[in-house]
Amino acid sequence: MILPWYSDLVIYEVYVRAFYDSNGDGIGDLCGLAERIGYIRDLGVGAIWMLPVFPSPLRDDGYDISDFRGIHPDLGSLDDFKAVVDKAHAAGLKVMTDLVLNHTSDQHPWFQSARNGPGHPHHDWYVWNPTPDRYKGVRVIFNDFEASNWTLDNQCGLYYWHRFFHHQPDLNYENPEVRQEMLDVVRFWLELGVDGFRVDAVPYLFECEGTSCDSLPETHAFLRDLRRVSDSFDPPRLLLAEANLLPRELVSYFGNGDEFHMAFHFPLLPRMYQAIRQERAAPLVQILRETPPIPEGCQWAMFLRNHDELTLEQVNEETRHYLWDEYAAEPEMRLNLGIRRRLWPLLQGGRRQIELLHGLILSLHGCAVLYYGDEIGMGDNVKLGDRRGVRTPMQWSTGANAGFSGAPPEKLFAPIITDPEYHYAGRNVESQERSPTSFLNWYRRMVKTHSVNRIFGGGRMRILESDNPRVLAFTRELDDGCILCVFNLSRFVQPAGIDLSPWRGRTPVELIGRARFPAAGDVPYVFTLGPHSFFWFNLEPR
Ligand code: GLC
Ligand code: CA
Repeated sequence: MILPWYSDLVIYEVYVRAFYDSNGDGIGDLCGLAERIGYIRDLGVGAIWMLPVFPSPLRDDGYDISDFRGIHPDLGSLDDFKAVVDKAHAAGLKVMTDLVLNHTSDQHPWFQSARNGPGHPHHDWYVWNPTPDRYKGVRVIFNDFEASNWTLDNQCGLYYWHRFFHHQPDLNYENPEVRQEMLDVVRFWLELGVDGFRVDAVPYLFECEGTSCDSLPETHAFLRDLRRVSDSFDPPRLLLAEANLLPRELVSYFGNGDEFHMAFHFPLLPRMYQAIRQERAAPLVQILRETPPIPEGCQWAMFLRNHDELTLEQVNEETRHYLWDEYAAEPEMRLNLGIRRRLWPLLQGGRRQIELLHGLILSLHGCAVLYYGDEIGMGDNVKLGDRRGVRTPMQWSTGANAGFSGAPPEKLFAPIITDPEYHYAGRNVESQERSPTSFLNWYRRMVKTHSVNRIFGGGRMRILESDNPRVLAFTRELDDGCILCVFNLSRFVQPAGIDLSPWRGRTPVELIGRARFPAAGDVPYVFTLGPHSFFWFNLEPR
């Protein structure tokens, strides 16, 4: 079976501002990213996803865009962008950028003009109303910051609609000019050589009275237009959806294979943290069983953390409070319906648990997305507001500013992590590259193992019965090949009897060390698993 090139992609998510500062002004930039392409290639990943790099007043770290066809001057120029793309391609990496369709910054010239009132250019590019009474009951996403999805514009005397911050007015997709313009923006970046987009906030493009305004048929119709544009390029470009929804609604973004190629598996996310804390497989098994099959050529994207809060939107009240209590004891760690901490502090630095979770997303039926810094165990800084605490400078070395920048420390766009537990002196690329047992080197080995086993990209997933509720077992199967994955979610040693009778006579061979285990037979196969340990086995025919 021929699998699409993106089926087993590992994607590295980069916040350019925080990655590497090439000109010593305290701000990471595109030239800095270009310099560090080799590091990203050596991780073994296949693609870079850059957070927004466009001109912006930076009230939402660049998701508030004031020009869709430029580069923020802090980060460089379009030529610098092109150089990143070329250099990445030369290193065999694909490049994805964020595509923010739903809204602009209130500083965008379109909105500035729109505020002059009806009849002025671009007024109809936004969603206005004389009162804040339309679309009642639509949930407010940034509920820690905004009380309503409507804000009164004093200049215009009308209210405008926004699903996120009040300084991010929603574009009016009812207006064909808006649809046309945004598809032109898409063409602009694809012509520059971009291989795909992580498409921001896709469910919210259209509004309709009496609905939740999420996932409307008109929104899907526009997304099919978007797909037609990305398919018109040679080779066709990749579309990855950010839609924070439960599985049934989420899969609608694959359409009939004519919308997105990929979507983040949001509902899996909180359940991984739940399963590992409760030391039981059930929350994972349940969500995986509730995940419908997806059209051919489509793929999930699995992730442990990203640049936002760890969202708990897709679990019920009870589980949300449980997870808040377990992972965000201090109120300042909570944000909106989530937790604003990085992976390592969330798991109190428990390396085995962190390895297990990475092993899980690398072997489930989807691509794995790695958030910059998680490969070296970076910490966070909850003292920084909003989500800035998980967006601090990358730690390259024990040198000044962790090797991130030559600027005086007070000029850095954000402080380096220096709390004792996560101090950059102990957590940086240079030191970890030197140590064969470092997490960084462990991660590289795992990605390599993942990418030489194509089954991880395309194999069907089958959950196996295990007689131990603390142990999760599943297979990935493609043609005649089968990989068995077994995870012990408990902090204690566990036995697990797993029915391998469908593979009777086959020999489990561990994927990394190539150790051969006794052949599978008719009686349950008993594994002994160390605390939070996991195995990947190839079930080899004799
Ligand atoms: C997405 C982004 C988030 C941003 C929001 C509004 O959810 O991931 O960082 O604040 O969209 O653009
Ligand atoms: Ca710089």
